Amino acid sequence: MPDDAVTMDKIVSLCKRRGIIFPASEIYGGIANTYDYGHYGVLLKRNVVDAWWQAMIGDRDDIVALDSAIIQHPRTWEASGHLAGFTDPLVDCRTCGQRFRADHLDAEHDVRCPRKPSVLPGQGPDCNLTEAREFNLMFETTIGPVQEAGSTVYLRPETAQGIFLDFKTVLGFARRKPPFGIAQVGKSFRNEITPGNFIFRTLEFEQMEMEYFVPPDDAHRWYLHWLEARMDWYERLGIRGDHLRLRAHEQDELSHYSSATSDVEYLYPIGWQELEGIANRGNFDLTQHAQYSGEKLEYFDQQSGERYVPHVIEPAAGVGRATLALLCDAYDEDQIGGEARTVLKLHPRMAPVKVAVLPLVRKDGQPELAHEVRNLLRRRMQTEYDEGGSIGRRYRRQDEIGTPWCVTIDHQSLEDRTVTVRDRDTLTQDRVAIDELPDVLAGKLEAAWISPKVAA
Ligand code: GAP
Repeated sequence: MPDDAVTMDKIVSLCKRRGIIFPASEIYGGIANTYDYGHYGVLLKRNVVDAWWQAMIGDRDDIVALDSAIIQHPRTWEASGHLAGFTDPLVDCRTCGQRFRADHLDAEHDVRCPRKPSVLPGQGPDCNLTEAREFNLMFETTIGPVQEAGSTVYLRPETAQGIFLDFKTVLGFARRKPPFGIAQVGKSFRNEITPGNFIFRTLEFEQMEMEYFVPPDDAHRWYLHWLEARMDWYERLGIRGDHLRLRAHEQDELSHYSSATSDVEYLYPIGWQELEGIANRGNFDLTQHAQYSGEKLEYFDQQSGERYVPHVIEPAAGVGRATLALLCDAYDEDQIGGEARTVLKLHPRMAPVKVAVLPLVRKDGQPELAHEVRNLLRRRMQTEYDEGGSIGRRYRRQDEIGTPWCVTIDHQSLEDRTVTVRDRDTLTQDRVAIDELPDVLAGKLEAAWISPKVAA
């Protein structure tokens, strides 16, 4: 278990307090495992997604982007195996009416019966569990106004299949040959019944998936490449190395399509859990879709005359899980001048707001100069203006959302056009000329960074 101040309850409460992430449909009492992202949550999540795109298509030339449909032809899910095999074994309790995963009834998962005494399901005097039944996790809906006459379709449970369906089209216009990848970010949906642990497991969630198509003989080499590349990516987001690990799946854990899978795991307050899965999917998906659609899904190398079905290496990450890992990794509590402070020590590039501009007082021309400074900065980075409350309270508000720098305009600023820059982590305050401020802050944003919690 982590040894720092963070707990899941503290993260949930901070996120709610600051409008970062909060329960969806709250005026109706909420809806299971479903959350909304507020202003700072959207900015944080966007930074995660931008960093992923940067790694996939900014830093490399061998990957192209795609945005495929959420509702695809229903045959997609027959071919992929999801219709028959994407299931969880569930039991119902005839007494309390609750539904549980049959493979989560042990002490390790610690799922509790809702009635008193609080025991594992099946162990209370009144528990009356049914036999386990397989329950498909895909959400079903209908195309057409009349349910009975319409055709049943599914909300995608992973973004990956849209990539396989478009393989031939993309190959046609992208002028790429294996090894090359197709990347996409978008919402996926799973009818999860297990308790979600905040945004760790939700009914709808954003995935960042990339299918990397390679010559069959090169698959293992590329699998190893992506294991390393993806671990590096999380470290570059500022996540502490000792809170990340790679865990190879045992043979009996492997999905039906995979010959090898490893998870990038993070040490969340609930223990080591999957952040991302990296799988060697072989040629399973392209072969299945070729068979079900009648289309040839293969690569023909005109130079060598070779024809083959590429193998696929898939790094599949969750935006919510990465966001949650960042929040947990950054959360800290300390004391300033005898006062307790909650602070998110986020990598500055991940922080929702980079700079807050604060006039010391709401008079003497300070707000006007503060607005001028803010306008100077806003095109370079995400900024915020705040003049409400004591300066200490305003610093504390920014600390809680992880703003790395606060720029304060004081009486001296009006005399010599300098401001103070307060650092969230070291609490130092440096005087900087307003004219130099945009470059000084942009330089800080580009600088190498390690979590101050590593040294602590
Ligand atoms: N295409 C492969 C695939 O979807 P997965 O391991 O089922 O593999 C990939 O999902 C990632 O998507 C996970 O590592 C996790 O980050 C995220 N994810 C999956 N189910 C989720 C859920 N119910 N809530 C939040 N994130 C989820």
